[in-house]
Amino acid sequence: MNRIRIALIGYGNVGKAFAEMLLRKKDYLRETFDTEAVITAICTRRLGGCLQPEGIDTKALTDDMFDRSLDALAIIGSGEYDVMAELTPIDIMTGQPATDHIRKALSLEKHVITANKGPVAWHYRELRDLAKEKGVSFCHEATVMDGVPVYNLAKENLMGCRVTALEGILNATTNFILSEMEKGVSFEDAIQEGRRQGFVEADPGMDIDGWDASAKLTALMNVLMDVQITPMDIRRTGIGEVTPEDIEAAKRQGKRIKLLCRGWIEDGKPVGVVEPALVEEGSLALTMEGTASYVTIYTDLMGGVTVIEHPFEPEIDHTAYGVLSDLLRILTDHSRSVQ
Ligand SMILES: NC(=O)c1ccc[n+]([C@@H]2O[C@H](COP(=O)([O-])OP(=O)(O)OC[C@H]3O[C@@H](n4cnc5c(N)ncnc54)[C@H](OP(=O)(O)O)[C@@H]3O)[C@@H](O)[C@H]2O)c1
Repeated sequence: MNRIRIALIGYGNVGKAFAEMLLRKKDYLRETFDTEAVITAICTRRLGGCLQPEGIDTKALTDDMFDRSLDALAIIGSGEYDVMAELTPIDIMTGQPATDHIRKALSLEKHVITANKGPVAWHYRELRDLAKEKGVSFCHEATVMDGVPVYNLAKENLMGCRVTALEGILNATTNFILSEMEKGVSFEDAIQEGRRQGFVEADPGMDIDGWDASAKLTALMNVLMDVQITPMDIRRTGIGEVTPEDIEAAKRQGKRIKLLCRGWIEDGKPVGVVEPALVEEGSLALTMEGTASYVTIYTDLMGGVTVIEHPFEPEIDHTAYGVLSDLLRILTDHSRSVQ
């Protein structure tokens, strides 16, 4: 049986859910790929690194198994893995330190998977080209709409199509808040409810101000439209100024207010817009409730193709599946590079 060794840089919600999913899919991996997936390294900011080339039993992992002197770059530099999964928090303003982690792993000819959209929003072309030069994969399916195939749909199933424009609702928190406000719930109470349900961050500012949606739109445009923009290039308006009166006025006209993301090319230049928009009856955006999201990929040969992410419990499984689907893609594409 083959063995694929994985380094987890970041071991929070996504890292833990992915490690658990690997255990759940152990038989599937063996039966389908004749492969055992082994986690050989785990790193967190506070604990440092745990490096066990023979494989870490994640069920028995304790804090004293970590070495504080081993930071992410040291773990990545050890080379004791085939795939590095970058699962640290996003810095929307720089894409760091995740970009440095990915750059280092790729230069060591290691495959990379990331759920962190920062590097894709800031340095996609450089990282894609580096991966190509080194003959390894740079996968990032979980960065937008979790495990829903968006990049892979376009790359694998819309081959030969040129992506001309994108439209979607890409931020669950703001869609939830706007949906709650339509029921008469206040902005603050909607945030509290989202926190209680576990998907609204302690500081939801990046969602409310449209930064998260902008980073996702940027990542999608960079990858699918082959442009080179950053979140700073998006014309961005958040939902902070949307009032209950605005929502009521929209409702009276049979419309809804949604934080809509749109990207297209105008006069040869990429244009990206994130803004609260009035959506009308008959539009797909109008039907998106709560934490649902969608993206429509417009193409030259197939017109618009849409994928929807429906709310699902536990939601973190969607993200973990995005990471797992990238691992399966790597196994499919590079079976020879596995031990
Ligand atoms: N959660 C979701 O539903 C979701 C969905 C899609 C994408 N994502 C993306 O996936 C990534 C991980 O999300 P998460 O929810 O798992 O975050 P999280 O729970 O906050 O976990 C982040 C992990 O990264 C570690 N970390 C932080 N800085 C580090 C550094 N410099 N070196 C090494 N480790 C470091 C943290 O260590 P300490 O705990 O020791 O600080 C923690 O283990 C983020 O980029 C996020 O945007 C998340």
